[in-house]
Amino acid sequence: MSINTDFLVIGSGIAGLSFALKAANNGKVILVTKSTRDESNTKYAQGGIAAVWNENDSIEKHVEDTITAGAGINDEKIVRITISEGIERVKELIELGTRFDKNNSGEYDLAKEGGHSEHRILHHKDVTGYEIERSLLDKVLKNPNITIYDHHFAIDIITQHHLGEIVTSQTSNINCYGAYILNNLNGHIETVLSKITVMATGGAGHVYNTTTNPVIATGDGIAMVYRAKGMVKDMEFIQFHPTSLFNSAENPSFLITEAIRGFGAVLKTQKGEEFMSKYDSRGSLAPRDIVARAIDNEMKMSGDDFVYLDCRHLDRKGFIEHFPNIYEKCLTLGIDPFIKMIPVVPAQHYVCGGIAVNENGESSINKLYAIGECACTGLHGANRLASNSLLEAIVFANRAYLHASAALPHINFQEKVPNWNAEGTEHAEEMILITQSKKEVQQIMSNYVGIVRSELRLKRAFDRLEIIYKENEALYDKTTVSQNICELRNIICVGYLIIKHAMRRKESIGLHYMVKKFK
Ligand code: FAD
Ligand code: SIN
Repeated sequence: MSINTDFLVIGSGIAGLSFALKAANNGKVILVTKSTRDESNTKYAQGGIAAVWNENDSIEKHVEDTITAGAGINDEKIVRITISEGIERVKELIELGTRFDKNNSGEYDLAKEGGHSEHRILHHKDVTGYEIERSLLDKVLKNPNITIYDHHFAIDIITQHHLGEIVTSQTSNINCYGAYILNNLNGHIETVLSKITVMATGGAGHVYNTTTNPVIATGDGIAMVYRAKGMVKDMEFIQFHPTSLFNSAENPSFLITEAIRGFGAVLKTQKGEEFMSKYDSRGSLAPRDIVARAIDNEMKMSGDDFVYLDCRHLDRKGFIEHFPNIYEKCLTLGIDPFIKMIPVVPAQHYVCGGIAVNENGESSINKLYAIGECACTGLHGANRLASNSLLEAIVFANRAYLHASAALPHINFQEKVPNWNAEGTEHAEEMILITQSKKEVQQIMSNYVGIVRSELRLKRAFDRLEIIYKENEALYDKTTVSQNICELRNIICVGYLIIKHAMRRKESIGLHYMVKKFK
């Protein structure tokens, strides 16, 4: 069965919802999302959204902080676009009902995070993402031009390849005609034909065995575009958040926001010694790559499984007011942050690279846009500055909307697109093959392609992954398509891209750190 729509949006986080809401002014929107509609990385964002908001701050300062964090290889034009247009986009979020905290004088209570020279993070307590997701979904659900399909998993985008043409990465005009979508409510694979397709599938945390990302983050959009021969870049820059709560019983890992360090919390070894000042003059508030690497180094030297975040000296009332969710979480584990230090450990958090896009969010495939975490605009360079991700998502959702809406009247639906061919496939007999391979990929990536890398480790990871890739392709070809096998296929693909890009970059820069000893 096939369905036609002007805009097909894949993903219901901040990027997909923001795009859908605007695009609905110009056409019919179908938004598919693989879990429930609110499940996304967005929902778990804690710290907030960075924007130049008061007179002490300036676009120049935010630009400089972004480029310093990114080790200077950011695309400066994109940085300026994001930071200057971001202010208007944040105002739009507020207009549509997002509530950011204010102080006693009625002004926005701006927080500070690692790498920021000013207080510029708008937040809603320590659950900013939840509030943004709530307010966007509220508006999207009331819009008659948008239809949301929960539990609909995008398998692959449709291109000339599906019409029988040979498509390679050298093909100059690859077109996107829509996507094949697995309806998990009835098991059917639907052909959704669209004039414009928007990839807003978020991150890829589950390529690693510890991550702050919810289970939906399996890099599907990046893998789909790579399989369709579109351009993907900068995948070596994987951001590890320095402070996820150490709790081996929990996966995904619970985040302890960087804003707590902005509030005065200090990183300490298990012996109770402050260590960050040995590594950087900004101490516990240095950019994330430096802090994560320092923690990794301290843990390797001591053999400890975690370090501590000391909050015991902080103002109790202010802490509970700003971080109620984290306070509650700690208490459930028997940690009163004013009596005991919080055990923390780095965990995969964010993908700086992704689907290569231009300043309008256009990918290298015609009529396919990519926005949010799955896209690589050039904003982050070698390391993302805290709280710049939500900002990037709203700025590029808007830019993609403006560009796609202008193109829409000139686009027709592609004819004669075949439906999904499931001939010769059978239901998977052994789920163990899929779950075990997933664990193996996550182990390989965490052990050899983590915070500190070497040529030897990358080569070993590449060789191991190749074996799993071949096994899984053979299984995929004879198995009835399921979300599980597709996600495994996608994490293998994204793992391969991370390793391949890491092997190409010989020097250490930002999040890609190749030397064995910490300097
Ligand atoms: P997401 O919000 O992840 O949404 C992706 C959507 O795509 C989901 O709905 C998912 O189900 C859907 N999807 C994926 N694959 C498919 C498929 N194959 N078919 C159908 N649907 C699919 N950034 C900040 O700027 N500030 C913060 O304070 C902050 N805190 C964070 C805290 C945590 C714990 C985490 C995990 C991230 C945080 N980040 C923060 C990063 C930021 O939240 C994300 O980068 C951002 O929300 C990504 O938004 P998105 O719309 O691109 O993707
Ligand atoms: C955090 O709150 O520490 C996360 C912020 C981010 O990822 O930008």
